[in-house]
Amino acid sequence: MLYLDHAATTPVRPEVLQAMLPHLTEGFGNPSSHHTVGERAAQALADARARVAAVVGMRAGDIVFTSGGTEADNLAVKGIALAAALRAGAPAHVITSPIEHEAILASCDFLERVHGFAVTRVPVSATGRIDPDAVAAALRPETALVSIGYANNEIGTVQDVAGIAARVGRVPLHLDAVQAAGWLPLAGTGAAALSIAGHKIGAPAGTGVLAVRGRIPLEPLLHGGGQERGRRSGTESVAGAVALATALELAEAERAAAAARVGAQTDAFIAAVLSARPEARLTGDPVHRLPGSASFTFAGTSGEAVLLELERRGIVSSSGSACAAGDTEPSHVLLACGIAPEVAHTAVRFTFAHGAPASSIDPLALAAAVGAAVAAVRSGE
Ligand SMILES: Cc1ncc(COP(=O)(O)O)c(C=O)c1O
Repeated sequence: MLYLDHAATTPVRPEVLQAMLPHLTEGFGNPSSHHTVGERAAQALADARARVAAVVGMRAGDIVFTSGGTEADNLAVKGIALAAALRAGAPAHVITSPIEHEAILASCDFLERVHGFAVTRVPVSATGRIDPDAVAAALRPETALVSIGYANNEIGTVQDVAGIAARVGRVPLHLDAVQAAGWLPLAGTGAAALSIAGHKIGAPAGTGVLAVRGRIPLEPLLHGGGQERGRRSGTESVAGAVALATALELAEAERAAAAARVGAQTDAFIAAVLSARPEARLTGDPVHRLPGSASFTFAGTSGEAVLLELERRGIVSSSGSACAAGDTEPSHVLLACGIAPEVAHTAVRFTFAHGAPASSIDPLALAAAVGAAVAAVRSGE
């Protein structure tokens, strides 16, 4: 079986499992306990925090361990926006885009619906790019946050984050870097806050980080014992933090080589699919895209039927987002890129591993299998 759905989740890396295991057994302490068992756990947590901080180019105190990308996004959007509104004594304004992950979009909806915030969703181009000047034009005196996905999970489009960061001025920029981690630099982006999910880079699900610069006021979402400097209460998962730090360090060390190797493989695959099937269209940006991401529409098919045909051929991929479980609506990302709903229903996404040896995937054989799967669906109609 060839698993090509790494944007949905990845297997835990052996090095990560090895690093985290001792913290589940003999190093099991509660980092808040005032005895040697607790102090050892606290030390391991502090080490993990410093290692994550080094990769993202922030201070150890800026790192908030969370349960994953969704929680990190919720904490960034609601935490920063609500803190600003509390200080101003009035609901504030948030800027995002219509192609964001549901964790961002639904958090913005919540702020609108429950707290009376204004939200501007800056439109995207047909390839899913946000114009930094459009972000600048949307800024208001009461804007509390700009929240943008560094790279899109469905179409792989990478945003001009330097351009956006240069235009937001005093307004904090939050980047959802869940899909960017392991492919793109996380330090030096100009972002005030950054979300990362461990399970996309070889750490277990249930691990994540919001890195948020200390000067940014943040209203916590989880109240309790005041862990994570009061920004996220709850006994920390030391093993999870160690796993995430290990996975992130490995991903960063391997990033440049993986991006070059997998990017070349993906380019060859995309070209071969486009030449194999006349109805194939690449979604997302042909240039500014994640090295491991290839997404298409195949007009005249159904994405679900193509996925079944692919699975019969031993290839596991997805129709786009695995995050909105059971969703049969056409993708909000593709619709925002101007793709018609009936074409959006035909989307198929292939996402490659950072670490797979180049020899394990033959892009031309893979494209031939995709072509055969599409042809089988079309002839069956
Ligand atoms: C861009 C993006 N943001 C956020 C998330 C949510 O992360 P998690 O699954 O860790 O909650 C995902 C998951 O696919 C994602 O792709």
